[in-house]
Amino acid sequence: MFNKIELGYKYGELEPYIDALTLETHYAKHLQTYVNNLNDLLKDYDEIKGSKTLEDILSNINNIPESIRQGVINQGGGVENHNFYFSILSPSPKKAPDGKLLEAINNKFGSFEEMKEKINKASIAHFGSGWGWLVIDENKELEVITTTNQNSPLSINKKPLLTIDVWEHAYYLKYKNVRADYVKNIWNVIDWSKIEKIYESYI
Ligand SMILES: [Fe+2]
Repeated sequence: MFNKIELGYKYGELEPYIDALTLETHYAKHLQTYVNNLNDLLKDYDEIKGSKTLEDILSNINNIPESIRQGVINQGGGVENHNFYFSILSPSPKKAPDGKLLEAINNKFGSFEEMKEKINKASIAHFGSGWGWLVIDENKELEVITTTNQNSPLSINKKPLLTIDVWEHAYYLKYKNVRADYVKNIWNVIDWSKIEKIYESYI
């Protein structure tokens, strides 16, 4: 059985940047629906759900039987992407990276601010539902990408370091149609101490 991560903070604790009702609905309703759908989809596939992590499954998506593959991309991606998103947020975040990660960001993007601007632009411009990402590729290069719907970077051989959920359900109650304000504000609750640890596990 796959499940939601523990949040580690209360629904109201990311205010004013992410409001309590959005966070509760997003975590307890939207994410729970992906969890339920994924477990339902895999109920007759013990060999998949018994022995593999969701990260393994999405990283080797072509090993999944074709009859359920798109369902696993949608529902499994929905679980993995959301669990990752909620895991890098914090009410008391480290606001910027340092050490090796900052060095890699400076080398790739020029500066931390330029990297943020690149992620913001990509996330705001992404058409329709999807995700903005900072990822590390197989050559350990940083990259800014977006994915559509619930597609995971893992399925294109890239490991997530940071993500912004730009589905309307992530921001509509507070920000209405103004995705740009949500994207700019979410940086206030992104915890770079968590992202540094993830980065160090990959290099
Ligand atoms: Fe979402």
